Amino acid sequence: LTVAVLISGTGSNLRALLDAARRPDFPARIVVVGADRDAEGLAHAEEFGIPTFTAPFRAFADRDAWGEELGRQLEAWNPDLVVLSGLMRLLPASLVARYSPRIVNTHPAYLPEFPGAHGVRDALAAGAVQTGASVIVVDDGIDSGPILAQERIPVLEGDTEQTLHERIKPVERRLLIDVVRRIATGELALTP
Ligand code: GRF
Repeated sequence: LTVAVLISGTGSNLRALLDAARRPDFPARIVVVGADRDAEGLAHAEEFGIPTFTAPFRAFADRDAWGEELGRQLEAWNPDLVVLSGLMRLLPASLVARYSPRIVNTHPAYLPEFPGAHGVRDALAAGAVQTGASVIVVDDGIDSGPILAQERIPVLEGDTEQTLHERIKPVERRLLIDVVRRIATGELALTP
């Protein structure tokens, strides 16, 4: 199974996926990593000798033009699966339609709780005693697609957004790697 990963930030989830995919028994291969900005996480792909591209959102007239560039870049690799791992931007519906349901996203909350760009902060602000991590199929909503995997994570006394997010990320990585593996082996069928 060939995989394209899209990121915006540090790419710690990407790093975990790269490490997992390096093992010969892992049934998926990451063929390209893209970002909507010059994300520091691209360095992980470069370290692994994996091609990268950037499609800086602000360089395009609008979301659709940006999405078309992403589509062109991805088309060159024709990946079997697109993984959004810390991509902090909504994809245009046209791009989602082209890849759905072979496009998954990780989210640092127990969806459908706390969707959106600030799931960790929102859980804290809501005084939640537990939150979670989720891997979903991307649809043209916001974190609203079918849930492929999720796990509860406790919110601890004195948690900050940073400490809570750092506790969530390792769980996200484990869930994401397992979901990619199960998609690759056919155990997990992707439905829109
Ligand atoms: C992850 O928690 C992801 O779910 C969220 O942003 C974080 C990205 O972290 N959208 P990283 O870039 O993988 O370190």
